[in-house]
Amino acid sequence: MELKKLFSGVFILSVLFSSAQNKIVVNTDLGKEKISRHIYGHFSEHLGRCIYGGFWVGEDSEISNSQGIRNDVVDALREMGIPNLRWPGGCFADEYHWMDGIGPRDQRPTMINTHWGGVTEDNSFGTHEFMELCNQLDAEPVICGNLGSGTVQEMSQWVEYLNSDNISPMTDLRKANGREEPWGVKYWGVGNENWGCGGSMTAEYYANEMRRYSTYTKNYSDNRLYKIACGPSDSDYHWMETLMKNGNPGRSFQGISLHYYTITHNWSKKGSATQFTEDEYFQTMSKTLFMDELLRNHINIMDRYDPQNRVGLIVDEWGIWHDVEPGTNPGFLYQQNTLRDAMVAAVNLDLFNKYCHRVKMANIAQTVNVLQAMILTQEAELVKTPTFYVFKMYKAHHDATMLPTDLVSENYELDGKSIPAISTSASKSDDGKIHLTISNLNPNKAVNISCELRGLSKVAFEKGEIITAEKVNAYNDFGKAEEVTAKSFSDVTVNGNSLTVNLPSKSIVLLELN
Ligand code: AHR
Repeated sequence: MELKKLFSGVFILSVLFSSAQNKIVVNTDLGKEKISRHIYGHFSEHLGRCIYGGFWVGEDSEISNSQGIRNDVVDALREMGIPNLRWPGGCFADEYHWMDGIGPRDQRPTMINTHWGGVTEDNSFGTHEFMELCNQLDAEPVICGNLGSGTVQEMSQWVEYLNSDNISPMTDLRKANGREEPWGVKYWGVGNENWGCGGSMTAEYYANEMRRYSTYTKNYSDNRLYKIACGPSDSDYHWMETLMKNGNPGRSFQGISLHYYTITHNWSKKGSATQFTEDEYFQTMSKTLFMDELLRNHINIMDRYDPQNRVGLIVDEWGIWHDVEPGTNPGFLYQQNTLRDAMVAAVNLDLFNKYCHRVKMANIAQTVNVLQAMILTQEAELVKTPTFYVFKMYKAHHDATMLPTDLVSENYELDGKSIPAISTSASKSDDGKIHLTISNLNPNKAVNISCELRGLSKVAFEKGEIITAEKVNAYNDFGKAEEVTAKSFSDVTVNGNSLTVNLPSKSIVLLELN
């Protein structure tokens, strides 16, 4: 009896302690940085069924389309909120010759897509089709030029073709191909992964090349290019240091990229998208959290060379990379997408928000049918993935003022390893509403969190949404009801300027407050 009393006393204390320790303080009076909506950007490469079958079906297709572009995909991405789209790669960018993709489609030359399945690329989707896609999506184009195997002249002429309103051979060519007005493309990648598939260059060599190519990619009329230099992979701090030191930051480039993929195991065995153990789930989440350290360290280097913060960090490839679905072409990188992937997206987006003073754009890889996709298609069918719903939920943070948060989180522990159970970010939009996103990474246990809106005397809870499912490997698939979607959420108690929130296990929540 005594023992039971003692035991139950200890238990209650530990419950009280564990609920008291989860706390988010939202500093409502300290917001000064905008969360650029471009942090919520996307990436589409000529890879597998991203472009062909994903976005592009051609005008003669029986699948409903406008000028060859799938209507269902455009509608879904507009619903989700797609601020920009990066194209044509990826590794494909540095073997792409843009002039092959203009003019009458039946006269365009073909090429071999050596990186992705060795398939024949017929170039039926080229510059005009991409610009029309961006127009239909109402998204900013982000074009990555070919520095690896293309010439300076080729890159220079592409920019002229897109942006000049003068009389010139390139503008004549554009007009002959049916486009009178320049498009005014702003975001311009000066090569992709030039340390690897984009030319296997050293940082020192690339820095010189990038300066040369950048010199000849000109500003036309009042359009100012925002040039994105190829940055490091993962923790290649030498690459970042060299580019910031030798690359003429702020003049030759306004942004520098970072690529980091979450891989549960390693490059040769990444792991299944849908069949995984708790140990693998834990490993995925801790590798995702590594993004925090990467951003912090790269930003520290940037701060030393660019204390005025003129250069943006552009995370133009990120997301989770699994083994391909059994039976699919290994070069097509087609993978399913579960609630685990949604958690990966939420954690990364919270981190980009946290560092939004430097992170000015990010592009998840890739939009349709490839890697951590928003959308999967199968002939005329379309599936919205759990990641789609996270992006739609986080639309609340687009162009809002980031409110710094202080987080005290209990740990999610497994076999002696631990990571914080909670991820969060907060922002205030122009209409005065405060949005708080909170995720509980623990797949086994609900968490109770107290949130203080410091700087306000009282707060009103307007509405909430939740993304969760019974199992962490739940996913949406063709021909069945959605298992993972956003639902309304109201497990919130308000007291003055504080809230208590009960977050179910493995869930992502959005709270709208006033
Ligand atoms: O997104 C797939 C590939 O990953 C891209 O082509 C390349 O840039 C990266 O290695």
